[in-house]
Amino acid sequence: MAFLEIRNLGLSFDGKPVLENINLDIKEGEIVSLLGASGCGKSTTLKTVAGILKQDVGDIFIDGENINNIKTGQRGAVIVFQDYLLFPHMTVIQNIEFGMKMMKVDKSVRKEKSMKLLETVKLSGYENRYPNELSGGQQQRVSIARALAVNPKVLLLDEPFSNLDVNLRSEMRKFVSDLQKELKITTILVTHDMEEAIIMSDRIAVMIDGRIRQFDEPKKLYEKPVCREVADVFGEKNYISGYINNNIFTSDINDKILFDVSELDNNYDDPENVEIMIPKESINIIDENSYLELNSECNNEFFRGIIVDKKYAGENTFYEVESEGCILNVSQDSDRYNINDSVYFYIDKNRICIFEK
Ligand SMILES: Nc1ncnc2c1ncn2[C@@H]1O[C@H](COP(=O)(O)OP(=O)(O)OP(=O)(O)O)[C@@H](O)[C@H]1O
Ligand SMILES: [Mg+2]
Repeated sequence: MAFLEIRNLGLSFDGKPVLENINLDIKEGEIVSLLGASGCGKSTTLKTVAGILKQDVGDIFIDGENINNIKTGQRGAVIVFQDYLLFPHMTVIQNIEFGMKMMKVDKSVRKEKSMKLLETVKLSGYENRYPNELSGGQQQRVSIARALAVNPKVLLLDEPFSNLDVNLRSEMRKFVSDLQKELKITTILVTHDMEEAIIMSDRIAVMIDGRIRQFDEPKKLYEKPVCREVADVFGEKNYISGYINNNIFTSDINDKILFDVSELDNNYDDPENVEIMIPKESINIIDENSYLELNSECNNEFFRGIIVDKKYAGENTFYEVESEGCILNVSQDSDRYNINDSVYFYIDKNRICIFEK
């Protein structure tokens, strides 16, 4: 049995379903992200686990125990919100001690544990400051220390970094990631930032409109999304619709772009009605000389195209290549091609996915 189990969870607000048949099995010590667009139900899921909201149907188990009827403070699941919610009239140490005080933990034990946690979140010496005397990142670390003070079995982080500036955000991601690994605390992180989810998670649950569409390891999700909606969560892609006959894909646009798809996963029912997904970074642009060289020595399928747009973006350059009536978005690490250049390209087939339309 998983450490945290969510079974067939459903919840409606005013008759409108917000969570539908949510199922998650999270292992002990694992960090799982809920990733999805604004309004898809991420915070609502977290709140039902914390007991702030009650689901209409379904069950939640922590360490084998059904917690449906256990009150918020006693579930062992503690939530940290994006806006920290520290008590402004309490010092840092009083904030951290608060939960333990509610649980009637002995004063000296409280003090010792809080000081230790302050050290864990690298804020020793800040115990007597008030929240308004701390930076955003420091406040966030205090709220994490406060959550950890009650020895939660499950830590729930609701977009904890979204109020922080870019540098501080990456510092805090690393900090929380290291702390999570060190304490081996089972964690759900809510985010709508795919990079954050990829960097921080053992597994990611992609939520779309109140449902979990795919729950997998980051690399698997990124490279083998099960449907277009999931693929789009991981960045803009190229899609070409068409049909497959005898393992050959033909584009609808002009019956032209032809691919041998025999080596690709074929998880579609109707070969007459598919679309192929081509990630921007799976297209490799080459010039004529390289084409002549490569064409004679490898079996890649090559296409001709014209560069119709170019955007330099530092590490990468984004091109639009027109080929056979299609405009393909391409990301390359070289900026050597220019608008109107006539080029060749080939596609890394391992990265292509075929979806039912
Ligand atoms: N208390 C409430 N009463 C009525 N509707 C609510 C309530 N809380 C949330 N909702 C609705 O439920 C849906 C899911 O909300 P939720 O807060 O879970 O989204 P989210 O995925 O966390 O989004 P965001 O990324 O913007 O935080 C939204 O359509 C929201 O308007
Ligand atoms: Mg939310």
